[in-house]
Amino acid sequence: MDVCIFYFSGTGNTKWVADKFVEKFSYKGMDSAAHSIELLDKAQIKNLAAEARVLMFAYPIYGSYMPEPMKKFIDEFPPLHLHNEIAVICTQMMFSGDGAWFYHSVFEEKGYKLKWTYHFIMPSNVSVKVFPLPYTADQLKIKKVLAKCEHHIAKAVDNINMNIPSITGNSLFSYALGLLQRPFYKKYIKRPFKSPLKADPAECIKCMRCIQICPESNIRLIDGEIVFGTECTLCLRCYNFCPKTAILAYGVKHNKKKPTYRGPEGFDPSLIAKRKDLMDFIE
Ligand SMILES: Cc1cc2nc3c(=O)[nH]c(=O)nc-3n(C[C@H](O)[C@H](O)[C@H](O)COP(=O)(O)O)c2cc1C
Repeated sequence: MDVCIFYFSGTGNTKWVADKFVEKFSYKGMDSAAHSIELLDKAQIKNLAAEARVLMFAYPIYGSYMPEPMKKFIDEFPPLHLHNEIAVICTQMMFSGDGAWFYHSVFEEKGYKLKWTYHFIMPSNVSVKVFPLPYTADQLKIKKVLAKCEHHIAKAVDNINMNIPSITGNSLFSYALGLLQRPFYKKYIKRPFKSPLKADPAECIKCMRCIQICPESNIRLIDGEIVFGTECTLCLRCYNFCPKTAILAYGVKHNKKKPTYRGPEGFDPSLIAKRKDLMDFIE
């Protein structure tokens, strides 16, 4: 295989980018595949790393940081093969500075030198009311952002196909931007972390969707109540995909007049999340 993409995607944007890469690689006659890291076991990861020439790691940016599930995945990644080359891509709504480059030392400690890093602007998935950032759930508007992003993906595919190295996010300016916003998010990265999310008992119908789709298995039903643990990665999947918009962020209800962000059209989080035996999550 030419390229194997390992992605973490909270709300569908990064999955969309990974799938677009696969589509565009195929137009170039390159063999590639995209895998949700939530669905892979150790043996599969080892086989994929051995089979593929380029290993691509893709994740959304959270305050210029990498999401915890992706960090764990990279920390536990098997040793590289001589034929492996590394690409890191991140998706973001606006900027992260050095979001894709920041972890180069983590990769280097494991002996991986980054050959490609890219940052792709995608729609915002931050639809919580307490952070009054602009977002849209209108698929026509979302498609406009995706069209621009697709153009950038095509350029990245050209570089990887022609084996031309391309690093973005490693300038002093990018570093300064990352440095600027990381202190605000530092507390969210530390573990254990008390999630600012909570199910509203008055609205929650205990459908268990949040438990099923949480990538960190951080939500349980205890004594009939939905309870968040200390491993939340803030992907907002539970918040955005709750059928009753019953998740409170910092105690604040979602504005019912506006739908939450549900990713590019057709995205279904249960297809990229590990299937759980619900009985393990009920106490
Ligand atoms: C907790 C959190 C923090 C975020 N921080 C940033 C940020 O610092 N810069 C940015 O441009 N986008 C930021 N975003 C937006 C996401 O990175 C962006 O929408 C991403 O494409 C979502 O990808 P996903 O749908 O694959 O989860 C943040 C999103 C969340 C949930």
